[in-house]
Amino acid sequence: MAEQLVIPRTTDRAALYAALFPQVKALLAGETDVVAAMANLCAAVHQTFQWHWVGFYRVLDGELVVGPFQGPIACSPIAHGKGVCGTAWAKARTITVPDVDAFPGHIVCSSASRSEIVLPLRGGSGKVAAVFDVDSSVLNDFGPVDEQGLAELCGLIEPLLP
Ligand code: SME
Repeated sequence: MAEQLVIPRTTDRAALYAALFPQVKALLAGETDVVAAMANLCAAVHQTFQWHWVGFYRVLDGELVVGPFQGPIACSPIAHGKGVCGTAWAKARTITVPDVDAFPGHIVCSSASRSEIVLPLRGGSGKVAAVFDVDSSVLNDFGPVDEQGLAELCGLIEPLLP
């Protein structure tokens, strides 16, 4: 297992995801515990991109319960359909929010968050079993490169979800 993440000195997000994916894949190889895998993935993404908040919520007993994350303390639980996270869960699709103040029902966990992306993760049942939430202190910080790069990283977690 790698002891240290090697992060290229670039702001090119595509290059950063390309460098990050194989390292996270190697880091998680053989991991059977979903919480451990989520924890290391969050740490790797946070260390690489320095976003304000990076973390998972798991679907437990019909609500989203915060899981491993990096950043300030988080709101939990979140109901189905509520906020960006609950909407990504209900619609089972990635939601990118350029300006959180313009998203009706956005749940404010930290006033420093300005934009956000939330990706649903499907478990073995085929249903959404978790969401991956990334919050940025920069407006309009997420685009198609992030949607693809983060989805590929989430694909490393999905086989461990129920
Ligand atoms: N802003 C989110 C809540 C989660 S926190 O940002 C960690 C939302 O509206 O779903």
